[in-house]
Amino acid sequence: MRRRSARPPGAWPASRLRAGRGIRETTEWNLSSRRLSLAQQRVWGGAVAPEAPLVGRDAQLAALDAAVATVAGGGFAVVKLCGEPGIGKTRMLRALSQRAAAAGLLVCAGQATEFEQDVPFATYAEALRPLLPGRHADGEGDAVRRAVDGHGAGSASSVDRARIYSGVWRLLDGARPPGVALLLDDLHWADTPSLELTEYLIRKPPRGPTLVAVAFRTEQPPAGVVDAIAHVGPAATQISLPHLGPADVDKLLPKVPPRRRALIARASGGNPLYVQALSRLRDDTLAALVNDHDIDASESRILTGLVTDIADLDERQRRVAYAAAVAGAHASIDLVAYVAELPARAVIAGADQLHRRGLIDVDRGQLRFRHPLVRAAAHELAGPAWRFAAHARAAAHLRAHGGSLQVVAHHVARSAQPGDEAAAEVLIEAGLAFTYSAPAQAAHWLGMALRLLPADRLGDRRPAVLLRYARALGLGGDLEGSREVLRELAHASEPVRTEAAAFRAFVARMRGDIDEAEMLLTAELNGGRLPPAAEGKLCVELAALGALREDGEATRRHAERALALFGDDRPALAAAARALHAFGSLQDGDVAGARHHAAAATRLADAATSPTLRPHVELFGPLAWVHMQLGDVDAAVRELDRAAQVVASTGDSSAVPYLLVVRAAVQTRLGHLAPAVQLTEEAAAVAGRIGSAEMRAMAEAVSLRPLLWTAGPSATIAAADRLAATGRPRSRMWWRVARVNLAMAHLAAGNTGPCLDIVSGPRESWPAGPPTAVPRDTLRAVALARSGDLGGAGRFARRAGSVAEAAGLSYEAGWATWARAYVALRARRFDEAAALADQAVDRLVAAEAPIEAALSRHLAGVAYIRGGRAGRARDALRRARDGYEAHGATWLRSVLDRHRAETPPRVALSAREREIAELVRSGLTNQEIASRLFLSRRTVESHLSRVFAKLGVRSRTAMAARIATELEAGRLVVDEGSRVGP
Ligand SMILES: Nc1ncnc2c1ncn2[C@@H]1O[C@H](COP(=O)(O)OP(=O)(O)OP(=O)(O)O)[C@@H](O)[C@H]1O
Ligand SMILES: [Mg+2]
Repeated sequence: MRRRSARPPGAWPASRLRAGRGIRETTEWNLSSRRLSLAQQRVWGGAVAPEAPLVGRDAQLAALDAAVATVAGGGFAVVKLCGEPGIGKTRMLRALSQRAAAAGLLVCAGQATEFEQDVPFATYAEALRPLLPGRHADGEGDAVRRAVDGHGAGSASSVDRARIYSGVWRLLDGARPPGVALLLDDLHWADTPSLELTEYLIRKPPRGPTLVAVAFRTEQPPAGVVDAIAHVGPAATQISLPHLGPADVDKLLPKVPPRRRALIARASGGNPLYVQALSRLRDDTLAALVNDHDIDASESRILTGLVTDIADLDERQRRVAYAAAVAGAHASIDLVAYVAELPARAVIAGADQLHRRGLIDVDRGQLRFRHPLVRAAAHELAGPAWRFAAHARAAAHLRAHGGSLQVVAHHVARSAQPGDEAAAEVLIEAGLAFTYSAPAQAAHWLGMALRLLPADRLGDRRPAVLLRYARALGLGGDLEGSREVLRELAHASEPVRTEAAAFRAFVARMRGDIDEAEMLLTAELNGGRLPPAAEGKLCVELAALGALREDGEATRRHAERALALFGDDRPALAAAARALHAFGSLQDGDVAGARHHAAAATRLADAATSPTLRPHVELFGPLAWVHMQLGDVDAAVRELDRAAQVVASTGDSSAVPYLLVVRAAVQTRLGHLAPAVQLTEEAAAVAGRIGSAEMRAMAEAVSLRPLLWTAGPSATIAAADRLAATGRPRSRMWWRVARVNLAMAHLAAGNTGPCLDIVSGPRESWPAGPPTAVPRDTLRAVALARSGDLGGAGRFARRAGSVAEAAGLSYEAGWATWARAYVALRARRFDEAAALADQAVDRLVAAEAPIEAALSRHLAGVAYIRGGRAGRARDALRRARDGYEAHGATWLRSVLDRHRAETPPRVALSAREREIAELVRSGLTNQEIASRLFLSRRTVESHLSRVFAKLGVRSRTAMAARIATELEAGRLVVDEGSRVGP
């Protein structure tokens, strides 16, 4: 057994080592380096000796080939590569890269790095280069480029992450065949925006032929990306790289004697990186390792072998290595020279020596470490004080030579000292530029700048910087932190104070604390004289809160006050006020008022330019909602499209989840169920990013309806219960949405009690407007009918109908008519039920609500069956099924199919047979029937004998009795295909 050498103080913790991030026992490096022979050195480092052939990965390579083939065939493929450090993830990505290139794909490769996790989009800066337009291009690609590589910083400030993500998506979406391969390595170290972007691209696959491949260490999985891949399902190729077998290790070491090979195979456990490391150790060391039962503890010695060269370097080489480690993944010779304080000549010579030792590659004038472990070791060996000064030099050099803002800020943040004004300025610049695209990082920089400078040094700018800091914290998901900072601004001067108050209210609203939000706004309004625009803005915020509370009166009051303050000459604000006015009117049942204000809001918004709409883009939410509820779904879609346009050009995406939720509701109405669900998922993801549990809950509330129609009531009830357990949504309006959907699910499941519990109760507790009153009465009517109270059911159904008709709302009228049809069916008034259901179909078709129309067809079909009209029933059910099918309402379709299958065997009479049978039942003789129908007696007799046969009876009385029971059971149908005639 070998003794382990004592660990130096401050050595790296074992966990770091186990994650493969570095070396622990510095003292051993010198030790093992002395044992290196030149031949052994060559095994490590593919640049010096040709890289060992790839072994033992046939199955995995075949999977990669299949993924490439999918993309070359025009499809989308995701590849996930994971495994322990050194297992060969990067190597496999390289193999994938070669295969993709051979298939003609444009390869875009990026790699995250351990020490640059604070650099926004670091992983993508390199990867997107082949896709992005040149420096001076215009348009979206250019905006993405500026944001991602941090040049032209001022412009970065206006671009937010939503726009960057969709911009990158569009770049890939437009990829021409044979397509693009986006390969991202070491995602366990990726910066947050890069991770979010990756998740976005996987969740919303571009339509162009695209391969997205990610690699990361199993121990540090990037959760969002892993989850997104899980959602892709079988189309994702998931590879967890196993250890190599002894035979593979043999192939890796063809020239090594068998006994030694066996030792290496055992000690390495089949990890190819360890194989390389161990192959540079002497036999006796190897034997000791193999005998050491605590292989885990020997890991450090194995890894030590990898980096010995660094400690063994001469002074100049070491400086180059340290400087390159500080400079980052792609360090130019210039930069390294400046950081190392060496002439460029010396750096070039040193870099060549490092290259010969297999430690770094030199690629287009840039130094790159061959393996992250080597960089980690150099970084560590450089020492903290040297690193501090080196980062300062790196920052200075990059600033002077046009380095990207985020990389400069990264170095500044590592070398700034208290009171360093220049450093604080850089951090503020970066914080302002990245507030919207990388808010968490921007908050970090701004917070740091604020701490570096004493409070008075920023002077007048401090409140504005604080406000931005708060905004970045809020957008980055730290709502609590944001609140804290905003409190500091309660006594700031205008306009910062009002803005801070408005933002504080916004933060409260995001958290679902409507009361708190209202308190803040009211206090600000009562606090003293404000310029009319500021006051108007606060009133609009208050109106929005009124709407969330379902307080139509307050909503209108605040909206009116706002309008009185600035009239229509501030079109964006006025549009917001009018949209909310419309919303409040509708909640109160003033449909005409709602129409009037909604139309005015649309006119104003149409006339307003996008930049003026930016701060008020949320207005399109209530406006689209109102248009939809007023039955103009096209207008709703148009408003949301406009909102998307405005958001695309804006910095702040905090309104995005809300707008997505409304869009999901509109898509649900239009029967686009899959896109609706996707939108709610996207909304929930964005809400999660900005830390808004409330927005998340809103998204879930809206998703319940499409969930019901696609997955059925059990899944929906479970989801609604989960949501209710969180106590959200806290705002009444969205809570109501969730409750109505839950009531509907209960009804679908046949749970009339729980359904009635939700929709009963005093009338005052529900808004009076038809969009809430009608569904409530509708659900009540149907639930009561199911539980046998046909009288009550009829009353509610009729009331729903008259409210909807009076308001002239086709969608609500359709639902109400559907409820009346249902009640009639339960009352066995089949003809009436069928006629009403057909009317409901017409109204719902007019309202562009295809699922609801199909539901009514379904109901009509059932009524026709019961009424004995097979042909019409068949037709209605077929069309209902087509409707469900076309819109992916899988659960509804399965109900209908079950329904059809369960329909008891029918007795089908032709129209003539039915007519003659009825006449027999009314007591006529065959002769009388013959004369009445202008037939011969013989013909009547032959018809009757067929009826007897079909019913299995022998006498006229038995036939009459049988027809009565068959009609009652809904089994007797008339085959309308048969014509009445002899
Ligand atoms: N199947 C293999 N056949 C031959 N060599 C391999 C194989 N797999 C990996 N290697 C070599 O082993 C070394 C480590 O592999 P690689 O860098 O790909 O590991 P990794 O999984 O990316 O590690 P990390 O998590 O540290 O990034 C490289 O030199 C690589 O060329
Ligand atoms: Mg790797």
